[in-house]
Amino acid sequence: MLKNKTVVIGVSGGVAVYKALDVVSRLKKLGANVRVIMTKSATEFVTPLSFQSLSQNYVVYDMFEEPKTWDVEHISLAKAADVFLIAPATANVIGKMANGIADDMLTTTVMATKGKVLIAPAMNTNMYENPIVQRNISTLKELGYEFVEPESGRLACGDIGKGKLATPEDIVNQVVKLLTKEKDLSGKSIIVTAGPTMESIDPVRYITNRSSGKMGYSIASEAISRGADVTLISGPTNINPPQNLKKLIRIETAQEMYDAVINNMDENQVIIKSAAVADYKPKNYSNKKIKKTNDDLFIELDRNKDIAYEIGKVKNDKILVGFAAETNDLIENAKGKVKKKNFDFIVANDLTKEGAGFGVDTNIVKIVDKDGNITEYPKMKKEEVANVILDKVKLLLER
Ligand code: PMT
Repeated sequence: MLKNKTVVIGVSGGVAVYKALDVVSRLKKLGANVRVIMTKSATEFVTPLSFQSLSQNYVVYDMFEEPKTWDVEHISLAKAADVFLIAPATANVIGKMANGIADDMLTTTVMATKGKVLIAPAMNTNMYENPIVQRNISTLKELGYEFVEPESGRLACGDIGKGKLATPEDIVNQVVKLLTKEKDLSGKSIIVTAGPTMESIDPVRYITNRSSGKMGYSIASEAISRGADVTLISGPTNINPPQNLKKLIRIETAQEMYDAVINNMDENQVIIKSAAVADYKPKNYSNKKIKKTNDDLFIELDRNKDIAYEIGKVKNDKILVGFAAETNDLIENAKGKVKKKNFDFIVANDLTKEGAGFGVDTNIVKIVDKDGNITEYPKMKKEEVANVILDKVKLLLER
């Protein structure tokens, strides 16, 4: 199944190192070429010889040892990696990677790779929950690194909580998924709108909403890894855009988003409107900061253009996907929007549910199509929701 694929496994030092042996063995059985890099501390737990025997390749752990081949070891391994797995990944290695530190064979090689990187953390619960570690994990996620979540349970130190290395089975499944992801959207061109819009009141104040851009950026990222040419039109966000976008257009206002969508519409077959667009903007922009007085302040608002509605009128055979963020009457409102805006389908998120909607890494959605069919989904990561949406888009493109 994984013939001609190379998985480089970076093993860092923790009690869970012994489980990485099982990971190597499973990947070998699936036909992968497995190369192992160990940190110095990993070799204190399990000898390189064990990994060498199972991977049937010599193990690299010393930056300065006599080279086994003529080429620069860390660069040749970095280039060879179809997937670079780090299991177990300690807080130390995660911290170094998130902060650009490359001071041993593992961290220099991973920094030089262009392959997909999958990180399987394992550490004590308090360390895992430490905001510094969490911040480092978020930084890496935003940069496109993937993670296999650690499990909860009794840890080697006796504590109970999250931090146990994921099972070798789960880790290998994730590697297989990354290696066998089909480029089933190759040749397709997609616009994704993401994030909030921002409507200025004066030079210091503005109206916006709570959209982080996570949902839209996940759709863009998954579409790219499935081979699509993606134009991302994004409102202001704090997250890094995915790599390999065809175009990234940053906008602030709803009018700017409208212009960007219209200007790029012709060359795209699909438009996914996951942005949270402000329906209103201040009628009058004040060039000077509005001064505080003793009176109440009333700001008159004008309607913004409804971008989806405008596209819906002229979309012809393009596929138009909407989102609905609702606090009540989810399905009724979603159905109304599908009809009014001529969406092929709408992804409705119920903002009252924990783990759904703005800011979080997960979503709970119901998809309503233009024939009135409703499909409900459980709580899923936004990447998974993105793939559900893209699967549906793919079916429509095939029709
Ligand atoms: O960014 P995250 O933090 O990950 O959160 C994700 C999300 C909750 C923002 C996203 O999943 C979502 O639901 N986005 C749409 C929110 C929204 O604006 O819903 P709406 O019901 O107001 O609009 C319906 C549809 O019309 C949307 O596709 C919207 O992009 C579009 N619209 C709305 C107003 C407008 N003036 N122009 C539009 O095109």
